[in-house]
Amino acid sequence: MKPVEISKDIYWLGVIDWNIRDFHGYSTYQGSTYNSFLIMDEKIALIDTVKKEFADELIASISQLVDPKKIDYVISNHTEMDHTGGLPRVMHRIGEDKPIYCSKMGQKNLSKHFRQKWNYQPVENGGELSLGKRTLTFMETRMLHWPDNMFTYVNEDKILFSSDGFGQHYAGVERFDDEVGEAIMPHAKKYFANILLLYAPLILKLVDKVKEMGLAIDMICPDHGIIWRKDPEKIINSYVEWSLQKPRRKAVVIFDTMWHSTEKMAETIVASLAEEGVDARPMNLRNCHRSDIITEVVDAGAIVMGSPTINNGLFPTVSDFLTYMKGLKPLNKVAAAFGSYGWSGEAVKLINSEFEQMKFDIIDPGVRINYVPDDKGIDACYELGKKIAKALPEK
Ligand code: FEO
Repeated sequence: MKPVEISKDIYWLGVIDWNIRDFHGYSTYQGSTYNSFLIMDEKIALIDTVKKEFADELIASISQLVDPKKIDYVISNHTEMDHTGGLPRVMHRIGEDKPIYCSKMGQKNLSKHFRQKWNYQPVENGGELSLGKRTLTFMETRMLHWPDNMFTYVNEDKILFSSDGFGQHYAGVERFDDEVGEAIMPHAKKYFANILLLYAPLILKLVDKVKEMGLAIDMICPDHGIIWRKDPEKIINSYVEWSLQKPRRKAVVIFDTMWHSTEKMAETIVASLAEEGVDARPMNLRNCHRSDIITEVVDAGAIVMGSPTINNGLFPTVSDFLTYMKGLKPLNKVAAAFGSYGWSGEAVKLINSEFEQMKFDIIDPGVRINYVPDDKGIDACYELGKKIAKALPEK
């Protein structure tokens, strides 16, 4: 790719992964980018690299600006392989003795990933590195979303290099928020839901800390997707909103079905909720990807889950989603379960047990229907919808 000057002497050098559709289990329908940045000051610093298979493309981009051997420092904000897989080739090209600035955990992870005796320069939170006219400040952001994560802030340009934070899996010819507009927000929300939701309380603390510090931010450069330059505050405020998980009058009805009985129950519950002005949406696990469903979970007030009973247990897609959702620890949900069964009928009880572990507020023991729902069964689903609607906040 041709480097893009994002501020005077600061370049985006990322690569565009147009074809990736599965990012460790997260559906990336619109591809992704791996963003790397070069700051050309009296000293030259490279911030983050790219996935292994794109390393040569990154080196070619650097070469359009400067001989790679002239890079003085490498900054590694995050050690996950989508940002460091290309590091061995880059180090080989720029010089194996070049210092790598990273957090202490970053050093530990890089050593274990690559088993190289590189010239690590672990930094503390608040540590600084002068490039000449500019100074970089390092901010540890542990567990956002790995123990090694840190941000790098360029004091003079007021640019924050935020590794995964504020990123989006979005491949496009656009480089900046103002070039995409509102259409970028669903991608940013999906990224938050799947990568950062678990750490929502830490995000709120971090935002408070940044506000206390009075850090001026003119531009946020994440390692995926577009750069926030028009309105960086917008994505920060969205992160606060998503992290707070204030329940909306919204219900996500998540289910799978074998012979359409549980599906019929789901559709009745959705229709009943809709009558009460609830933003209700059925999400059939066979057709909706877990990473899209969890995106809807973030601001939903109610989680309603349906499963047929199979082999005395949950339908496998339902177990899969419950495992995924439990790991991401969504907060502030009311919940209810439903499902059709033939002879043993454990599914509703098993879903409720998972809800309890997630500390959801279970507002009903759940609706179980033997085989195909009759009128009485349909009425029970309809009433469940009304009960859920009552438990949700008014608009
Ligand atoms: Fe984009 Fe945590 O890696």
